[in-house]
Amino acid sequence: MKTQLLTHTDIQKAASLIKNGNVVAFPTETVYGLGASIFNEEAIRKIYTVKGRPQDNPLIAHISLTSQLSLLTSDIPQSAYILMEAFFPGPLTLVLPKHPRVPDIISAGLSSVAIRQPNHPIATALIQAVGEPLVAPSANLSGKPSPTTASHVLEDLDGNISAVIDGGPCSIGIESTVLDLTQHPIILRPGAITKEHIETVLKTPIAIISHASHDTDKVASPGMKYKHYSPNANVFVATSIEKLQSIQNTNPTQPSMILTNRDLPSELAQSVRPLSEQTLYANFREADTLRMHHIIILLDEKTLKNDGLMNRIEKAREK
Ligand code: TXA
Ligand code: MG
Repeated sequence: MKTQLLTHTDIQKAASLIKNGNVVAFPTETVYGLGASIFNEEAIRKIYTVKGRPQDNPLIAHISLTSQLSLLTSDIPQSAYILMEAFFPGPLTLVLPKHPRVPDIISAGLSSVAIRQPNHPIATALIQAVGEPLVAPSANLSGKPSPTTASHVLEDLDGNISAVIDGGPCSIGIESTVLDLTQHPIILRPGAITKEHIETVLKTPIAIISHASHDTDKVASPGMKYKHYSPNANVFVATSIEKLQSIQNTNPTQPSMILTNRDLPSELAQSVRPLSEQTLYANFREADTLRMHHIIILLDEKTLKNDGLMNRIEKAREK
């Protein structure tokens, strides 16, 4: 299959492909998604196949208008309305009770469904043109970092999907915050909408799933139990320049990449990249392309307080 590279002027073409049961990658403000209509089970099966995604990891339904919610869920709690008012469209996914009409393949058999309204003109126009919500997992091979450019999508899926719409780099760069509202609100995946943002709006303390609970059998978010992407390079975290130097000194001849926003002494200043949500996944991909032996992430106060970014860094350290 030849994968077409489309632009924002080709929305109708992309929508026709999806309506005909094909899968098309498109940009959102978080990462690129791989879209199919929520009511086309065969196309959704294609998504699982081309990504190599485990069948029991459910998908997020993407809407362009909150009026589409009634297609997907009923018994919407008051807290969901408050959060949608504050954060939709945006990088927040709400897990809500699933309407029986939503195919089970989307929710991997769970009685809930994850819903988000992306804040990106191409994503919105595409959902509108198809006329139905779209499921869209991140458009990477399972086990690779989420794509933040169209060329990352092609790196993983060229020849296996019908098209990708190029919308340039994603402005946020890590996946949406996933908040489960089917129980006392709990953040299943931290992201750009923070615990504090949600607590301010709901005026109540919110739980955040602990890293340690990922391995238990009873995982609230099935995606959590899978091994996430870690670069081929070993990932180390340092909180001081001395620690960074000691890590460097254990492998003095091996190529390494440093991710940091701090100023470094000139002898260390090789292969340094800024540390940010926008660039983390691109840097991981580049480190693998360059066959780096290790990546050292030198943290700063701001990063340490960023749950979304720290969560992706912790996952990258897991082997
Ligand atoms: O930013 C994003 O959310 C991107 C863009 C494309 O919208 N999408 C994305 O999808 O990251 P994906 O499939 O890579 O991650 C979805 C996460 C998984 O961890 C999955 O387990 C969880 O959401 N999830 C989906 N449905 C769920 C449900 N009903 N209950 C709990 N977790 C759910
Ligand atoms: Mg993903």
